[in-house]
Amino acid sequence: MAEIVSVKNTGLRGITVADTKISFIDGEKGVLIYRGYRIEDLAKNSTFPEVALLLLNGVLPEKKELELFEKQIADAGRVPEYVFKSMKHWPGGARPMDVLQAAVPILAVGDGDIGDQTREANVRMAVRLIARVPAVVAGWHRIRQGLDPLAPDDSLSHAANFLWQLHGKKPDPEMARDLDVCLILHADHTFNASTFACREVVSTRAHMYAGVAAGVGALSGSLHGGANAEVMKMLLELEPEKDIAGWVKRRIDQGERIMGMGHAVYKTMDPRARFLKDMALRLGKKTGQSRWHELSTQIEEAGLREFSSRGKSNIQPNVDFYSAPVYHIMGIPRDLMTPIFAISRVAGWCSHIIEEKFAEAQEKPALYRPQAEYVGQYCGLMGCEYEPPNER
Ligand SMILES: CC(C)(COP(=O)(O)OP(=O)(O)OC[C@H]1O[C@@H](n2cnc3c(N)ncnc32)[C@H](O)[C@@H]1OP(=O)(O)O)[C@@H](O)C(=O)NCCC(=O)NCCS
Repeated sequence: MAEIVSVKNTGLRGITVADTKISFIDGEKGVLIYRGYRIEDLAKNSTFPEVALLLLNGVLPEKKELELFEKQIADAGRVPEYVFKSMKHWPGGARPMDVLQAAVPILAVGDGDIGDQTREANVRMAVRLIARVPAVVAGWHRIRQGLDPLAPDDSLSHAANFLWQLHGKKPDPEMARDLDVCLILHADHTFNASTFACREVVSTRAHMYAGVAAGVGALSGSLHGGANAEVMKMLLELEPEKDIAGWVKRRIDQGERIMGMGHAVYKTMDPRARFLKDMALRLGKKTGQSRWHELSTQIEEAGLREFSSRGKSNIQPNVDFYSAPVYHIMGIPRDLMTPIFAISRVAGWCSHIIEEKFAEAQEKPALYRPQAEYVGQYCGLMGCEYEPPNER
């Protein structure tokens, strides 16, 4: 019989709920590993499609296998016409994360593999999702401006294609490579809130699209993926501010959070933030926008001093802190920053969904079903006496 754990752990911090072979974090040392490979190594040497295949299959692909996967992604990037036709009727002011969350089941209704429970069918659906999530985000940005979505350009990389479909001009290759690196850095992160949401949903045997739609919803919150857009809001508000240290202190005194700082698992600087900080500096210098890196660094330093003086020196920059200035320098609107997180994380979500569905890291699939402690009205096991409305 399964052991009954009666300790309540609100927020499930530190509770192991499953095994995974996909990624590993050492929160004390600031280490992130995908399928055995350090994130720094992958960011320097790999590409997002290669990392996506690594996450999905567990091993780095051979050259031919990678080329085939890149072709599959490029072919699948053509979003079925009915999806954009439908989106053209949606209110132009809709938030891109809501649009994306709504678009995922709309993509599902046209996917011929939806009823097929095999791993192969799930991998095919994963390929379509990885290919189409960016096309939907870019397509929505065009639609809301009264423009038609652009078809992908097969000569461009996955990241470059997104920039092309978003802005309607061929991106600078260095910037496209930087976006590719951002996608690598965001692709997976063990049992974060959105991945857990995906896994929880498919543990009921719901299909992959149902899981991914839940993941998009969870990611949209400001304590998770929504934090990058909040960081950018803070940077824009603080641009004219002279007393950054005073602002940071006041905010913490008032019990408000400094967005982009702190992490449920990392107790030191997030390794992805280190990478993005350097990128913000380099891109800023290249484009004459160094102020965003300078301002972010000032907030970081003030935050570290303030947190440390309160005995919370483990609150340090996370991935969202420096991705916001990077995306801003790339010309990405603030409300598309969280959707870009989704464009990358969809690779991790799909890999976890497959691992969950096919019990690839543990003996057999399990339906998630935690307990809650009931603290509401209680009149004993016979229940409270019901009184009709007119007698209450
Ligand atoms: C991500 C986050 C939710 C993780 O927090 P956590 O480790 O689970 O811890 P808690 O939310 O319980 O916070 C612990 C304490 O640190 C404080 N804290 C944590 N992050 C903080 C931040 N960014 N700014 C100010 N205070 C913060 C909390 O207010 C809390 O203080 P208290 O104990 O006095 O109530 C939290 O750091 C946060 O809200 N960060 C800002 C949002 C963000 O960047 N999210 C993206 C994460 S990748």
